[in-house]
Amino acid sequence: MKRKWWHDKVAYQIYPKSFQDTNGDGIGDLRGVISRLDYLKELGIDIIWLSPIYQSPFVDQGYDISDYYRIAEEFGTMEEFDELLEEAKKRDMHIVMDLVVNHCSDRHEWFQKALADPEGEYGRYFYIRPGKDGREPNNMRSYFGGSCWEKIPGTDKYYLHMFAKEQPDLNWENPTVREKIYEMINWWLDKGLAGFRIDAIINIKKDLSFPDYEPDGPDGLATCIKMVEAVQGVGDMLEDLKHRTFEKYDAFTVGEVFNMKDDELLEFVGDDGHFSTMFDFSAHMLGFGKHGWYDARPIEFKEWRDTLFASQKELIGKGFKANIIENHDEPRGASRYLPEHAVNEAGKKMLATTSILLRGLPFLYQGQEVGMTNCRRDDISEYDDINTIDQYQVALDAGYSKEEALGFCYENSRDNARTPMQWTDEVQAGFTTGTPWLSVNPNYRKINVAEQQKREDSVLNYYKKLIGLRKSDEYRETFTYGNFVPVYENVETVFGFLRESEAGDVRVLVAANFGTQPVTLQLPGQMDAALLSNMGNEGVREAEAADGMITLESCESIVLRLA
Ligand code: GLC
Ligand code: CA
Repeated sequence: MKRKWWHDKVAYQIYPKSFQDTNGDGIGDLRGVISRLDYLKELGIDIIWLSPIYQSPFVDQGYDISDYYRIAEEFGTMEEFDELLEEAKKRDMHIVMDLVVNHCSDRHEWFQKALADPEGEYGRYFYIRPGKDGREPNNMRSYFGGSCWEKIPGTDKYYLHMFAKEQPDLNWENPTVREKIYEMINWWLDKGLAGFRIDAIINIKKDLSFPDYEPDGPDGLATCIKMVEAVQGVGDMLEDLKHRTFEKYDAFTVGEVFNMKDDELLEFVGDDGHFSTMFDFSAHMLGFGKHGWYDARPIEFKEWRDTLFASQKELIGKGFKANIIENHDEPRGASRYLPEHAVNEAGKKMLATTSILLRGLPFLYQGQEVGMTNCRRDDISEYDDINTIDQYQVALDAGYSKEEALGFCYENSRDNARTPMQWTDEVQAGFTTGTPWLSVNPNYRKINVAEQQKREDSVLNYYKKLIGLRKSDEYRETFTYGNFVPVYENVETVFGFLRESEAGDVRVLVAANFGTQPVTLQLPGQMDAALLSNMGNEGVREAEAADGMITLESCESIVLRLA
């Protein structure tokens, strides 16, 4: 593998709207991000990914951009953004922005012009098609529900939107559109941006014949995923994009890629792949409900572990995936992946261990480092997310009661991760002095940064140690480039693996007991030293492991160096 500057880095996602408000309007802002850079540096973060901060009507929380060259006024100014870049650079940190170019906002100037003259130049910036027999051009359902097509008032034409109707898809077949996108990307990279997280990118290739698909729901529509899976040729577009932009800057890119074809992995993230890396969503996909959140499946430990192992093995020696347990579209990892008996500090540290030390780039999501959890709401009006409101309705339409539908939202809502960052136990969790745009999770009195900073054995301090270990002079090479070998696969409750340096001189065992009972394990080699225990058990386990066996309590994890 070619070595790259980002390979040994640790990344952190900021959801700016919910991170830190500094002017009391209840909305996080760039000043807030700047004010927390030292906090992130101390945690061990190198790369910061900012969810969209561009000008936007915020129908989909900034993933609907109305001007790619402006900072949303809710968040601050371009001067403040430049200051952020500079302050990050001073601390040897890198800023990565979200790149949302499958679609823009319906308030974008291009789309406004397209509406005014669908036949004209700007009409060709989008996918505009005449209706078929007085109906939509085809029967695709958008990701957020309803048809992918919206009628242009006063015409018989429709425009395509794979997400909300306020997010019209940009026509990537139009060379002028591609040029404008490349120009915009390079403009940001010229400013000193380190790269991009690339949103929903697999969707940019359409089947231009827009056929009908086999309906898969009571609405008679078929998910637009069917088109994504059937169509060929996205790779050529992504290569062109890379050559014209990222590659020239040695920029870091992480793709949000779902529904890739199985044999395309190396084209995406191998040496010279389309992207530097892409998120590993294999665990997330396990819970996927065919008809919606109401038939999402709970994730079972063994299946989850084995899925991650298989995913890890796919890229050894070839490339890296980016490992996450949560993000702004997902429920909180602690609420989702930990069995009920493990939703406590020990469990959260254990989950951190088995995520951060995997092979690949670790991405943390804000609040993960203190173990923030899902947030229960009593009424759908307490949710903001467009997807949640749709899925609530989908559940009601399928015959579930309000209580049941709210239960599905509690398990799956994107707003679980979007509640304000819990900084202190003071009013509004120290996030704002005003009224937050989305109400705080009431558990902030117990779970917050200030309390955990003071307490040596907190989840936060454990994350620091864990990241410190991963990046230490002694182990950085092994955790970055070392092999990944699953162990204890036949032990039902244990998540265990070895990381072995390429030269074979360093071997590190990571083992965690997700079960309710203690387990005794035979070590796959002779113990040399205990590097990290989530229960402060380094000394005990080290002494015990001298005879080649080790016992782990329920929710205990250990990192051991083998001789
Ligand atoms: C991605 C984003 C999500 C957004 C969607 C449309 O999945 O992560 O938040 O709603 O794309 O841009
Ligand atoms: Ca603010």
